[in-house]
Amino acid sequence: MSYQRSFVMVKPGIFRRKIVGEIISRMEKKRLDILAMKMIKISPKLAQHHYHEHVDKSFFKNLLSYICSGEVLVMVVGGENAITQIRSLCGATKVEDAAAGSIRGDYAVSTTENVIHASDSPESAMREIDLFFRKEEIFAYNMDISQ
Ligand code: PPS
Repeated sequence: MSYQRSFVMVKPGIFRRKIVGEIISRMEKKRLDILAMKMIKISPKLAQHHYHEHVDKSFFKNLLSYICSGEVLVMVVGGENAITQIRSLCGATKVEDAAAGSIRGDYAVSTTENVIHASDSPESAMREIDLFFRKEEIFAYNMDISQ
């Protein structure tokens, strides 16, 4: 087991559906640490960087237009095996495969509007965190607070 940081994005439309608190609550119930969070609107340029590995996919344009369509919540979330833990809370990417009880299984509308993104590896997490956050925006309260 190792302490990991993951990049998590709550996708457009979720504030209007009033389920942001529910999503954060599911992570807190697993004792995960919210180390940074902000509400932003993603530019097409930033979206292209973030999803660069999917540039050749048929759904790329659709994905970009959705992700830039409204405000999102971006977070850095930490914990023991955080990457696997959070992916498991999210559920499968494809709406038809997402199990009931997972965030996507309970709330995804479609594979495009699938509520949440979470890093799939420590390498992706590092890259994605750097893309969205400056170092000074990230807290580390698992350290001794008397220091
Ligand atoms: S792949 O093809 O297996 O590499 O893609 P996958 O890992 O399943 O998905 C990568 C991200 O693309 C989104 N996605 C889609 N968006 C729009 N339309 C369609 N059909 C579609 N299929 C996949 C999917 O939600 C993933 O986004 P993130 O934000 O990483 O969850």
